[in-house]
Amino acid sequence: MNKKKNALDGGNHAALWHGRFTEGPDAEAIAFETSIYVDSRMAFDDIAGSIAHAKMLGEMKIISRDEAEQIVNELENIRHDLKNGSLQINESAEDIHSFIEGVLTDRIGEAGKKLHTGRSRNDQIALDERLWLRRAIPDLQKRIHTLIKTLTEIAENHTESLLSGYTHLQRAQPVTLAHHLCAWCWMLVRDYERFSDALKRIDLSPLGSGALAGSTLPLNREMVASFLSFSGVTQNSLDSVSDRDYFLEMSSALAILQTHLSRFCEEIVLWSTEEFKFIDLSEKWSTGSSIMPQKKNPDFAELIRGRTGKVYGNMVALFTMIKALPLSYNRDLQEDKSSFFDAYDTVYSCLGIFIHMIGSTKWNVDKMAASCFGGYANATDLADYVVRKGMPFRTAHGVAARLVRKAIEKKCNLEDLSLEEMKSESDLIEEDIFDMISPRACMEGRKTTGGPSPNCVKEQIKQLKNFVKK
Ligand code: ARG
Repeated sequence: MNKKKNALDGGNHAALWHGRFTEGPDAEAIAFETSIYVDSRMAFDDIAGSIAHAKMLGEMKIISRDEAEQIVNELENIRHDLKNGSLQINESAEDIHSFIEGVLTDRIGEAGKKLHTGRSRNDQIALDERLWLRRAIPDLQKRIHTLIKTLTEIAENHTESLLSGYTHLQRAQPVTLAHHLCAWCWMLVRDYERFSDALKRIDLSPLGSGALAGSTLPLNREMVASFLSFSGVTQNSLDSVSDRDYFLEMSSALAILQTHLSRFCEEIVLWSTEEFKFIDLSEKWSTGSSIMPQKKNPDFAELIRGRTGKVYGNMVALFTMIKALPLSYNRDLQEDKSSFFDAYDTVYSCLGIFIHMIGSTKWNVDKMAASCFGGYANATDLADYVVRKGMPFRTAHGVAARLVRKAIEKKCNLEDLSLEEMKSESDLIEEDIFDMISPRACMEGRKTTGGPSPNCVKEQIKQLKNFVKK
């Protein structure tokens, strides 16, 4: 895997720290400690950070303006060459920082050796990670946005589509499909906002914190921060190189988002069963069985649910890695990237698949409406009816409960009992009860803010659409 035999070998491409050593680590040791395999995806962030640093060094006359210009121009060439593929990342470098600096020095000689003035890889990696997150978070948020938009559009067509609401997976009270889908949307809105909140804390530059204690050179940290459009700089050099809160916070936010997707997938699996049949997944987003010819399985939903463990695992790995680290930088921190990137990539791809899967699902509204009948889902509404006529709720609960009991014994629905049977429990019950306890009336009567009545749900949809527009 690692072609380099000895970290002390070879001019500019020797390890950045080789000077103090007479003996280099052997190939197995190098392969063990290098991070280029994982940090190379921050190549463009590393270059952006180096350009800002070099410009500042020139402005502050720590190096000459001419040297700064040479460095900046060549870093831009390197970026260009990496983009068009004429330069490939050499995986025998120790890390992305060494690789870029090595190429720069190969190309422009002495001036290239001045890039690392007043800088350590400890503040450099912290900067790269923050820059990477600043790019990656909006990409992820775009997908959350698309998912909310997709769900809201489906909801708009189903504000009248009856569906039983469930508690304990038992039929509870009638709602609508739109109401149900909006519930998922609000979870996603909170996820979106959680990432925006995290971004505020990520948006500070740690560069200039050096290895741990800043620098004796007159670095201008604020200038670097403004070149990179950060909102400010971090305030303590020890904290700056030790802090990985952004990964802890992000991996927690990712775990919560993945939890939402996983719960939703559980429901999709359930709803696509013959027993429920509330939905038909499109053939494009289902798979078959190698032995059972009739099968159409919800594998994508199951895979999203299944990958949740990995997202939690990565989060726990990050917390565990950091929980006993003394100040300041410790090499353990190098292990942050593989866990974090894996969590991010998993959630990112799950979101993409989920959008396709849900967008192509067929909603069996008749089956959903049928779920509102036969489970005594209107019993609360019967109680509310007598409450409106002055009966205390606790007494009304008893009236409705005894009528449910009667209906169970007669093997009929609540609304199939005669007026006389109803009256035997309460004189307050009149003929209009039958209009009041149909599933549709029960749903439409629930007009409290956030409730399932079509007008209330339309209000939710309006708010969600405004959110998506922002
Ligand atoms: N590769 C390291 C990391 O990801 C950054 C380099 C710091 N190395 C060091 N020996 N101080 O954290």
